[in-house]
Formats: sequence, C-alpha cells, structure tokens
Amino acid sequence: MSDILVHTEAGVCTLTFNRPDKKNSITTAMYGALADALQAAEADAAVRCVVFQGVETVFTAGNDIGDFLNNPPATLDSPVFRFLRGIAQFPKPVIAAVCGPAVGIGTTLLFHCDLVYAGDNAAFSMPFVNLGLCPEAASSVLVPQMLGYHRAAEALLLGEPFMAEAALEVGLVNRVLPPTETAGYAQSVARKLAAKPISSLIETKRLMKKGQSQQVMATMAEEGQSFGRMLSEPAAREAFTAFMERRKPDFSQL
Ligand code: COA
Repeated sequence: MSDILVHTEAGVCTLTFNRPDKKNSITTAMYGALADALQAAEADAAVRCVVFQGVETVFTAGNDIGDFLNNPPATLDSPVFRFLRGIAQFPKPVIAAVCGPAVGIGTTLLFHCDLVYAGDNAAFSMPFVNLGLCPEAASSVLVPQMLGYHRAAEALLLGEPFMAEAALEVGLVNRVLPPTETAGYAQSVARKLAAKPISSLIETKRLMKKGQSQQVMATMAEEGQSFGRMLSEPAAREAFTAFMERRKPDFSQL
C-alpha cells in the first residue's frame, strides 16, 4: 500500500501518512506524492477541503533521516520544497488531525493549515538546531508570530517538544480531543466546511492570508537555501549519522 493515502469523499480530500513502521517519516517520494495530491485537489472542483492526518499514535516523525542523508534536496524545485509551496499557497481550507509525535515538518506544516485538531497525546517539536539545520516552511517567521519570541526561541533554539495543551494555549491547535476521536472530529468539521460556498471560503482565506503571503514565500525560499546547504555540512551529517547509529550526536568540535 502507498505511504501516502489519498481519499476523496463528500468534498473532502484526506491525505494520510501511512508509514507507521517508520513513524510516518516522509521520504522524497512521499513529498512528491503530497505535492501532486495538493495540485490535483486544487484543480478538482469536487474537492472543497483537505485534511492531513496520521494514525492515532503518530502524525509524522518529519523528514526521513536516511533519505535526507542519501538524497538531500538539490534545488528549490525538489519535492519537499514543491510540497511546502503547495501547502502555503493552497487556496481551499486545510485541516490537520494530529495525534502522537509531530516532528519537524510535522509541526511546521500546521502553521499553513486553517484548523488543527490534536489528540491529547500530540507532541509537537521542531528540533532543527539539534539536527544541525535551521527552520523551514517559513517557521522562522510564523512560529515567533504565533508563540511570541521567547516561547519560539524555546521551541526553535532548544528544540524541545511541547504537548497538546500548550499548543492549544498558544493557538496552534483549535481543540484537544481523545486520540480515538480526533480524526473523526476533523472529518466532521471538514464536511461542515465542504457544505459552504467554496467561492466564499477561498476569498475569505485569501483575504486573511494576503498581508503575509509574500513574506512567507520569500522566507521559505531563504530558509530553503540555508537548509539545503546545511544538510551537507558536518553538524547535520553528525546528527543524522548519530540517529542512524542510535547514539547521541557529538557537536563538541562543530
Ligand atoms: N527518519 C527515518 N526513520 C525514522 C525516523 C525518521 N525521521 N523517525 C523514526 N524512524 C524509524 C526508526 O529508525 C525506527 O526504525 P527501525 O524500527 O527500523 O529501527 C522506527 O522508525 C521506530 O522509531 P523509534 O525511534 O524506535 O520510535 P519511538 O517511538 O521510540 O520514537 C520518535 C518516535 C518520533 C520520537 C523518534 O523516532 C524520533 O525522534 N525520530 C526522529 C525525528 C526527527 O529528528 N526527524 C527529523 C526532523 S527534520
């Protein structure tokens, strides 16, 4: 079965991370599938809303570390950046249902969703510094904006996880639910949105986002340049190799 499931029903296109044995970590091929699915959902008049979900125990562990080590994205046209631009500019409503760990892009993609529902087991983290990297998905702008600078520094410089209730408090999450109810609740909200006039949804979202969209896209491109360069530098290679070897990274010389 595919690592990304795409299912459209009653106006709702649901994209499911489906690689639970690897904690739904995302490979280049999966980014390509996600970017293609978003493009198709945008063009398909039958799709009025998109839902991202994982499973009840994990949303996604972020980038597949082995894949990133072996096939770092070479250009800004690579699938990961195509996906990020796709979600940042997606004109119809996007909902996320998040249970368990949401690491790296698993958290940063949420800043581009319109509504986020979390299981009470959700754990959000952006450990880019711990991986010798820098923020992506315009998170260097969007995280301080939503969390305030000091909490953003905690999340981005220390890279420590924060739980669903903290995410609710800062407004990253709309509602916290039992993990068994999270996906179902997100679907019920998606269907509610799908019953509304799509032209009004699109125009309302455009108006809410327009003040910032240029800055978001420019930041994303700048972060992408740095992130791409840092992937092949010694700190990231040490962090990734340490993860594969199940040991603590040693940054003492870096
Ligand atoms: N890339 C590649 N493989 C990953 C992965 C990732 N980001 N995250 C987990 N996996 C794999 C593990 O290597 C392991 O594979 P194996 O069974 O073949 O050994 C399997 O998924 C289970 O992972 P494990 O770490 O044993 O699960 P856990 O429940 O103890 O911890 C996480 C879950 C998500 C907290 C932990 O896996 C983690 O921190 N992953 C890395 C997250 C990360 O740094 N992502 C990059 C962000 S840019």
